[in-house]
Amino acid sequence: MKLATEISKLLKTSLTEVEDKYFADGEIYIKIKKKVRGDDIFIIQSVVAPANDRLMELLIMVDALRRSSAGRINLICPYLCYSRQDRKASSREAITAKLVANLITKAGADRLVTVDLHAEQIQGFYDIPVDHFLGYPLFAKYLTDKKLLSNAVVVSPDIGGVKRANKLSDLLGLQLAIIDKVRKAHNVAEVTHVVGEVEGKRCIVIDDIIDTGGSICAAAEALKKNGAKEIIVCATHGLLSGNAKEKFDNSCVDRLLLTNSVPIDPDRLPKCAKVISMGPLMAKVIRRIHNERSLGELFTWEDKRMKL
Ligand code: R5P
Repeated sequence: MKLATEISKLLKTSLTEVEDKYFADGEIYIKIKKKVRGDDIFIIQSVVAPANDRLMELLIMVDALRRSSAGRINLICPYLCYSRQDRKASSREAITAKLVANLITKAGADRLVTVDLHAEQIQGFYDIPVDHFLGYPLFAKYLTDKKLLSNAVVVSPDIGGVKRANKLSDLLGLQLAIIDKVRKAHNVAEVTHVVGEVEGKRCIVIDDIIDTGGSICAAAEALKKNGAKEIIVCATHGLLSGNAKEKFDNSCVDRLLLTNSVPIDPDRLPKCAKVISMGPLMAKVIRRIHNERSLGELFTWEDKRMKL
């Protein structure tokens, strides 16, 4: 809601009210409170905890709009739940990222704008256009503005995140290091070893999601043991579940950079955290989609032509 308000202010437009309530049994009721026939609709909703309710809310909203003859239904979902299960990692598992894509498409959405899907290829699960933005340029800009790049190395906290870390290291012209970890259970990871030079360095660790903070705090500890001087963690989606705040407050992480892709309760924010807004970027994206203009320029951050 906060992000939606920020975006609407930037676009100098108002938010349309939606009646949203629960029946006694937990079912969700939605009513769009304004005529929408033929309108270009932008639903701004991060599908985050309670993930099942938020997802159902989104689907019911799309259905209500479809049945109200809305023109085009664009979903702006900076965070989409269930994208971590993007493949069968072992037998008899579901691929929830594909299931969510089916649900969203079937409900009648025309377009999805999202940020840092756990794996970029999830875009292909959708049969509607997906504009997939990445969070790392926002961090690159912040780190550059705050002059936090001297003696720095970019670190991927796991093998799966190397592509993301590589993009950041390329953009900033820094070396890359990689942490090798084994996942023992959901939200429990153990670092095996660190590949690359981190001794005496300022380590900029980049990840997509911080859920309980377990993975990243273990990664930070391993870096410290390997002689890292300073640890800056960047993560697009700060879910900060459970005792994440306490974990960070008691960790060796010096700075934690997050975005507002999901709403964060200030009481749950670790002391070392700083939240960077993606409102200005999303406002530009919406304006361009509405005016049928290319988004290409907004993706060309790699060329340091960031237009933020
Ligand atoms: C895992 O592959 C993800 O990129 C994140 O590292 C993970 O989901 C974070 O979870 P947690 O903060 O609970 O360790």
